[in-house]
Amino acid sequence: MILPGGYIKDLLRQAPGTAVTARGWVKTRRDGKKVHFIQLNDGSSPTDLQVVAEEGVVAPDVIARVTTGASLSAEGELVASPGKGQAVELKARGLVVHGAADPEHYPLQKKKHNLETLRPLGHLRARTNTFGAVFRVRNVLARAIHRFFQDRGFMFIQAPIISSSDAEGAGSMFQVTTLDLESGKRAEFREDFFGCRTYLTVSGQLEAEILALAFANVYTFGPTFRAENSNTPRHLAEFYMIEPEMAFCDLNDDQDLAEAFLKSLIEQVLTECRGDLEFLCKWYEPDLFRNLEAVLAGPFERLSYTEAISLLQKSGRNFEYPTGWGCDLQSEHERYLTEDLLKKPVILTNYPRQIKAFYMRTNDDSKTVAAMDVLVPRIGEIIGGSQREERHDVLLDRIREHAAHGMNEESYWWYLDLRRFGGVEHAGFGMGFERMMMYLTGMKNIRDVIPFPRFPGNAEF
Ligand code: 4AD
Ligand code: MG
Repeated sequence: MILPGGYIKDLLRQAPGTAVTARGWVKTRRDGKKVHFIQLNDGSSPTDLQVVAEEGVVAPDVIARVTTGASLSAEGELVASPGKGQAVELKARGLVVHGAADPEHYPLQKKKHNLETLRPLGHLRARTNTFGAVFRVRNVLARAIHRFFQDRGFMFIQAPIISSSDAEGAGSMFQVTTLDLESGKRAEFREDFFGCRTYLTVSGQLEAEILALAFANVYTFGPTFRAENSNTPRHLAEFYMIEPEMAFCDLNDDQDLAEAFLKSLIEQVLTECRGDLEFLCKWYEPDLFRNLEAVLAGPFERLSYTEAISLLQKSGRNFEYPTGWGCDLQSEHERYLTEDLLKKPVILTNYPRQIKAFYMRTNDDSKTVAAMDVLVPRIGEIIGGSQREERHDVLLDRIREHAAHGMNEESYWWYLDLRRFGGVEHAGFGMGFERMMMYLTGMKNIRDVIPFPRFPGNAEF
């Protein structure tokens, strides 16, 4: 096992003269006169450790097995490196190949692979420079999220993955059942495992509301599932969502928190992942640093939905989808606003009530709800949230309005109860973890920022 201090990222920082053992996988091997140069990486750093093995130190039959992809350990002494890009290299005294990788069959040879050809290689792509960088950023981002909320006293909570309610009222859910679907008998959900119809959750929000009314500030960070058949570069069937929920909080506080949240995540990742971001900037998104630093530079734009519609109508653009008041905004509209017109993150608020979820608080005009979407350049919607309807009777009316779309008020009895016992104004939002990953890494396809993407037609690995 590699212990703290023994990762390649740590070895690269140690002084010449230190005796060490390095372990990892071979990126490349180059042979000089009576000497072999091996680039070794253990996933801890964008920089490889160069292992120098002189002839005589390593037997020819061992070195023959040191090919791209092989796992090995090398022990020896760190020496000052004459090469560029690293202060030290490892002068090997001994070398053990643990697992060879036959060069005739190992698919990741030294060259730039295109991301699409790497997708069917989900078991190996994490060893490439690109996915090394992306997944290290993913880890730092997860830690940054916890740090942001923990520093503010939020409680980390877990919402169930198996759920009997449709939190978004949108009906695109995966069903969970142990009924024998091949028996040919009509499904009786009373006889199903949970005694009712169940699904994979689309959001932990409704449960987060329960706990926010006990702990004031809470957040979830877990997998969510959507069975919409959207084969786009921005949608996954299984993705991670972070959902803070705050009691004693209105839509303004909600927007302030969302803005502070995004800025803090960008700051933390910029500080902790410099090397990886530089790599991604060089190969995938030349504007990466400029875009991220621009977000930190000033306040987000805040606009109402109604103002946004009027800007879209004045744009002179020929959008594919219409833009009248009452229309849902499409990705092309969102990206026009944030990318072309305002060139910064935008928070849109107060959407028409008929296009938003049942739990959003109805505004005094009765036509709009206290919703907010945060849009960022290149991605479009990265956060969706709202102030929640805390008035029992108004909420009940909303649920009844949705009865035609399959909502039944009996199954929301506990959600309504929260409005009868100690209810208070409260609000929250959901950030798509992978959308944020796309924004931070410059990756163009959401399938390349999660180790094992699930999308229509694919659940391999
Ligand atoms: O806007 P959404 O649907 O909001 C909710 O689920 C609320 N319950 C959140 C809340 O208020 N607690 O989803 C929130 C975010 C979106 O803004 C987007 O970033 C991401 O989740 N998202 C997806 N990411 C990847 N693939 C999908 N299919 C996604 N659907 C939503
Ligand atoms: Mg949304």
